Amino acid sequence: FEPKTPQYSTGDPTSFAYPTARSRWPVILTQIIDDAFKSVSACDDAEKRNEGKKIVEELVNLKYEVQHDRALTPIRDDGAPDVAIYNKELAALGNKVSWLNVPWLYTECYLFRRVNTSFSLSTHWKNYDVFARQKIKTFRSSRPAVIELAARYKDLVTQLRANKGKPVNEEAEKILFMEMCEICLWGNATDLSLLTNLSYEDIQKLQGSEARKAAEKNILVNDLGAAFDLLMAAKKAGGNERRVDIVLDNAGFELYVDLILAGYLLSTDLATQVVLHPKSMPWFVSDVVPADFAALLTAVASPRHFYETPTEEDQLQDKTPEKLTDTEVEELTFLFQEWAGFHGEGQLALRPNRVWTHPGSFWRLPHEAPDLVEDLKTSELVIFKGDLNYRKLVADASWDPTTPFTEAIGPLGPGSGINVLSLRTCKGDVVVGLKPGEDEKLRQTEDGGGDTGARKWAWNGKWAVCSFSKGR
Ligand code: F6P
Ligand code: MG
Repeated sequence: FEPKTPQYSTGDPTSFAYPTARSRWPVILTQIIDDAFKSVSACDDAEKRNEGKKIVEELVNLKYEVQHDRALTPIRDDGAPDVAIYNKELAALGNKVSWLNVPWLYTECYLFRRVNTSFSLSTHWKNYDVFARQKIKTFRSSRPAVIELAARYKDLVTQLRANKGKPVNEEAEKILFMEMCEICLWGNATDLSLLTNLSYEDIQKLQGSEARKAAEKNILVNDLGAAFDLLMAAKKAGGNERRVDIVLDNAGFELYVDLILAGYLLSTDLATQVVLHPKSMPWFVSDVVPADFAALLTAVASPRHFYETPTEEDQLQDKTPEKLTDTEVEELTFLFQEWAGFHGEGQLALRPNRVWTHPGSFWRLPHEAPDLVEDLKTSELVIFKGDLNYRKLVADASWDPTTPFTEAIGPLGPGSGINVLSLRTCKGDVVVGLKPGEDEKLRQTEDGGGDTGARKWAWNGKWAVCSFSKGR
């Protein structure tokens, strides 16, 4: 079910997989251990605390295994059906594969699944999210951009309502659609797995509207116009069930902008329903699990409580968070009411599926999740957010960068019955759909990789692609 082109590997010194396995995974594992340790230490229940200590020990061992390039061991059976999938693939890789010389995509998924088993096999920590603290903390720190967007959103929706019934200027609508998608795109530049490279300050810079305008030239492939034409045509055809799906990526700010896009699509009637697809376990540090959706809504529902209650850190530094103005509270409350309304009407729904945390690429979706694929065929447009989803769409294979996107996504391409739009800031090696010579030119830019053989320009989220494939 996979392309013949070889996949990126943690053993290849020119791949981003190489420093990822050697430096970034240990950092992520250290954060995991620290968080678990903190919760275990704060736990009053002796039985739960003892069990927690065992989990921390397991996680410390896991970090040791990664750093000392030990063999990958089978995932322990925690009763979930994906254990067999993980272990079958591990067996197929040969029984002696070790952390620092294995396919990147499989092993990174395996890493998070391994972490998960330490919790899922416990009695008291089954649903513990070891990244929850980090996710909510970063969302809090994106306050300026959150407020700016809430204001713009209220303005926009108010105008839309005032103009209801009047003829629409399609060109203007297209520009607005593209801008909304670009907001949603750049929200992906701020995932937490890259935080090991970016400071909070860098993140804030990435989130403001000025930064967004400046970044437009960094979108290497921009098929947003085609996606708009499709939704507009469906709207004109007048069907009363026109769904858009979003295969989510990160929680916090990215989920916030995903919901802004969802609200916009529903308010403009470019869609009548938006279905969101979260992960079913803590995943790649910051990916959305259902509880993150609830946490975000709670924050936006009571913005004063969320932003003005001093955090532990504030208390340590004797700092009082800045108060929100009445207007800011009103704008955030407006947003919450919009989302709650859509949610209540069933127009905005969350639909988990464990296939999103399987190790393989989406080339396997038709085989692994036929029901899901049938369901996605009934959607007007399926938006895949982020780097990992893109890597899975194109099977993380070392394609020539001029390969058409429609070819690199294999069975989900033309004829699949699924209209795919990928919004991805580049944080890996693979990229397709570029013009001839473009990759070479980017390699010659500062930190672009030069003649090292590494596509370094594609590692840090500075460049992006919005790639579309018409499947029906
Ligand atoms: O290498 C960068 C990385 O951490 C990859 O491991 C992963 O593909 C990705 O970023 C996560 O990013 P995103 O949240 O955009 O999927
Ligand atoms: Mg992610």
